[in-house]
Amino acid sequence: QVQDSMNITIVGSGYVGTTLAACLADFGHEVVAIDIDEDPVRAINAGEAPIHEPGLDELVAEHAGENLTATKDYAAVADAEVTFLALPTPARDDGSLDIAAIESGSESVGEALARAEQAGAVPDGEIARHLVVIKSTVTPAVPEEVVVPAIERGLGRALKPELSTSDQEGNGADDSDTPGQFEVGMATNPEFLREGTAVSDLLNPDKMVFGYDAEWAGDRLEGVFEPLLTDEVPIVRTDPATAMMIKYANNAFLASKISLINELGNVCKEYGIDAYEVADAIGLDDRIGEQFLRSGVGWGGSCFNKDVDALRAAARDRGYEPALLDAAVAVNDTQPARLLALLDEHVDVDGKRVAVLGLAFKPGTDDTRNSRAVPVIEGLTERGADVVAYDPVAVDDIRDRYPHLRFEAAESARVALSGAHAAVVVTDWDEFAALDSEFDSMAEPVVVDGRRVIERRDGITYEGLTW
Ligand code: UGA
Repeated sequence: QVQDSMNITIVGSGYVGTTLAACLADFGHEVVAIDIDEDPVRAINAGEAPIHEPGLDELVAEHAGENLTATKDYAAVADAEVTFLALPTPARDDGSLDIAAIESGSESVGEALARAEQAGAVPDGEIARHLVVIKSTVTPAVPEEVVVPAIERGLGRALKPELSTSDQEGNGADDSDTPGQFEVGMATNPEFLREGTAVSDLLNPDKMVFGYDAEWAGDRLEGVFEPLLTDEVPIVRTDPATAMMIKYANNAFLASKISLINELGNVCKEYGIDAYEVADAIGLDDRIGEQFLRSGVGWGGSCFNKDVDALRAAARDRGYEPALLDAAVAVNDTQPARLLALLDEHVDVDGKRVAVLGLAFKPGTDDTRNSRAVPVIEGLTERGADVVAYDPVAVDDIRDRYPHLRFEAAESARVALSGAHAAVVVTDWDEFAALDSEFDSMAEPVVVDGRRVIERRDGITYEGLTW
């Protein structure tokens, strides 16, 4: 619990915004979630999380109607000391970011502050400080070049009021007949949450990254996250652009680490070497670390692709060719084709039933964005296979997002495998590790595993992608 509760608004009620809103309410802050869409607003006010994340429903239910409310009205920002922008930043076709939502959200925050100012929200002669914190992942120049000008457009002036003669908040006794004004600060505070563990990742961070210019902005960020600032959690204090670069570097490093272990795994496979044995050994070197060394069919999800692409586009924008990042993406794009090539070595799938196990981009989520299941199903269809796919939760999501995919959905792995001439594993759901007699009903027991979840066993032709 915080010592000093603050009024905080959070613009955007997606998975980052809602997780943040619920956790900050749990710290004891007064939180208002703002979204232009009716659905998340209604959900939060009804005490339900608008998205699925373990632990989130409970937090929203506990605080909704108390110190967590939601609204479509930006006016709420004027009562807050801090506004977080947690708005979507979708990718454009060239990989660069579409920051329209961030831009219009920033402008709306400025407008709301200007309206409140005109209505006398700030006492005459005083300066009230308001901190706008960019939580969304944006490329390094966006905070200064896009967000600040957008807030200024909304405000109708510079972030810092010109008339301010005092540097101390509330200390303007000499200007008692000048109307009170907001001084707006801008900061960045990237998130490192994983889908499926967002709440626990937020509450147990490896690090906190605060990007700001003015000292008061840093103090205010500390006040917001006070319960997390223990001796064990390093705080990185830097400028807004560097903070965002840290976020990109973090994801680019992780994505490249997977592509590197995938490439090493591909070489291992050519020599009949088990890449997992190699990975375990190199992971013992502290400089390498044991995590994110699971080779296979590659990364998916909403973040790695988008962030690596945005960083590549940002690099090219300044005339730098990011050769290694390009290669990381190329390796990731090739892994599904390698999986299908391995399958081709054992069966000609034309006209045959092939089971695809797993559609989600990783276990524990129904999200299929950039799931490796997409190119795998496409490749199977091109080969003339009849695809039968099973996933415990992600069938609807993949049908919505990728309506061109042709497959029959099975209600269980057993049903998918029954009569199949081959099976490919795309997602490492725990339940696949327990499959056993289910393989007996296959017409031809050929299994190509892209995630190392199935055990080798007698009677099955088993191929691991990199082992
Ligand atoms: C990722 C980062 O891990 C988070 O730190 C970051 O905050 C987040 O992106 C974001 O930018 O929002 P997430 O996309 O939820 O989180 O998923 P991860 O758990 O990192 O997995 C990403 C993909 O990598 C999955 O498809 C997974 O199967 C794959 N992966 C992961 C591997 O193929 N091998 C590994 O060893 C680890």
